[in-house]
Amino acid sequence: MEEAYHVPVLLESSIEHLKLGDGSGTWMDATFGGGGHSKVILQNLNSEGLLFGFDQDPDATHNAIDDHRFTLVEANFRYAKQFLSHNGVKKTNGILADLGVSSHQFDTAGRGFSLRMDGPLDMRMNHEAGISAAEYIADCTWEELMVVLRMYGEVKRPDRIARAIVAAREENPITTTGELVRILSKMAPGGRENKFYAQIFQALRIEINDELSALRDLLEQATDLLEHGGRLVVISYHSLEDRLVKHYMRSGNFEDKIEQDIKGKVLAPFKPVVRKAICASAEEVLFNPRARSARLRVAERTDFLPKPC
Ligand SMILES: C[S@@+](CC[C@H](N)C(=O)[O-])C[C@H]1O[C@@H](n2cnc3c(N)ncnc32)[C@H](O)[C@@H]1O
Repeated sequence: MEEAYHVPVLLESSIEHLKLGDGSGTWMDATFGGGGHSKVILQNLNSEGLLFGFDQDPDATHNAIDDHRFTLVEANFRYAKQFLSHNGVKKTNGILADLGVSSHQFDTAGRGFSLRMDGPLDMRMNHEAGISAAEYIADCTWEELMVVLRMYGEVKRPDRIARAIVAAREENPITTTGELVRILSKMAPGGRENKFYAQIFQALRIEINDELSALRDLLEQATDLLEHGGRLVVISYHSLEDRLVKHYMRSGNFEDKIEQDIKGKVLAPFKPVVRKAICASAEEVLFNPRARSARLRVAERTDFLPKPC
């Protein structure tokens, strides 16, 4: 039996929080993937509703939905404003982003995301652009690698790991996930090996795909792209993403500096709709273990207009 491309996470909650209303208007799915969320959005739109799906992975285009109300944009969501404007869209009624990698990307050995399967050390979500993790590791300095491991992997002793990787590449180029795991295995803490490898794979993936900058760009563009009252619904899978989303939804900046007027009204483009992130139920996690780390946050566009920079 063919494996599913991706099982959508927190499907019901995310669709409910988008507030699709009578199904008219223009909507955006920033991370189309297998189209699980998009399909349900379309089911809830009326004949005038429009949905734009974005995905930077050319593989996702095979899942494009044949529906006159749907447009799939094969691009990084950090360019959403530009691509939507090209399609005559200045404002949307709601934006959904289900961040990270799809099961298809994760479970395809050739994409290099998985530490369980040996494959080329690639890790690009768009494997036709940018440099692979192998190319990055071949060229970076140990100091650059240390910063990436510390910031994005939050590992202990990133200096030691970075030096060991750089020393190993002097012997032989590191071109496969298996080789990287073998090098790391000498430093892996007993009993917690997989968590250790996963942190390092995560750090490299974030760097290779510039994931946090792309997310910052998307959040800032959502301020311009959403109508007053429009919802921003974001599902993140690790604390670095979730922190950016939480701060931006609360204060309109990534430093989380909350500004208020003299009456104490918060001056920010978004107002959080849920106080705490929504997590998957035990039942959903049992059925789909990838839902375990999911954190869903929702905010509504206020009438606040940030000063142009
Ligand atoms: C978790 S999956 C989304 C799954 C989707 N919600 C579904 O139900 O099938 C994330 C998808 O977003 C894409 N993606 C991640 N970051 C992106 C970015 N910056 N721009 C465009 N697509 C991105 C990935 O290629 C992947 O296909």
